[in-house]
Amino acid sequence: MTKDKDLEKFQKALQEQILEQARKEYSEEVIERWMNPRNMGKIDNPDGYGKVVGVCGDTIEIFIRMEQDTIAECTFVTDGCGATLSCATMATELAQGRSFQEALATVSTDVILKKLGGLPESNVHCAQLASQSLRHALADVLHHRQAPWKQTYRKT
Ligand code: FES
Repeated sequence: MTKDKDLEKFQKALQEQILEQARKEYSEEVIERWMNPRNMGKIDNPDGYGKVVGVCGDTIEIFIRMEQDTIAECTFVTDGCGATLSCATMATELAQGRSFQEALATVSTDVILKKLGGLPESNVHCAQLASQSLRHALADVLHHRQAPWKQTYRKT
């Protein structure tokens, strides 16, 4: 029992130490989404699907479900870093509830960075990866509408 408590204490102290270090480089918006990512997961038979591999080798996949012209649901999966989780969360939050045109016009790398309170230079590509993945998913919505039999995403 004492060992368990010691381990728990050690884990808490370590987590606090990591957070303390992260706060020196990242905003609260970034850390909060990194710790509590939203809109994670896949959508079965999405209306739009986008997958992009970033310069670092990390991947973001975005899934969109439309209701008429509104993005009713926008989700993601990634194998990327904490900053990628924050950027993908922000991209999906910004897209959800908007019309196709609004999302296309609104969600960009700059807007994601601005809403997150910025990122260190070495993580700017995480925001680029999130916005590119979203744009691919939006392009797939259009593609799917024009030629429904050519839907990009196939359930595996
Ligand atoms: Fe590669 Fe974040 S996407 S480090």
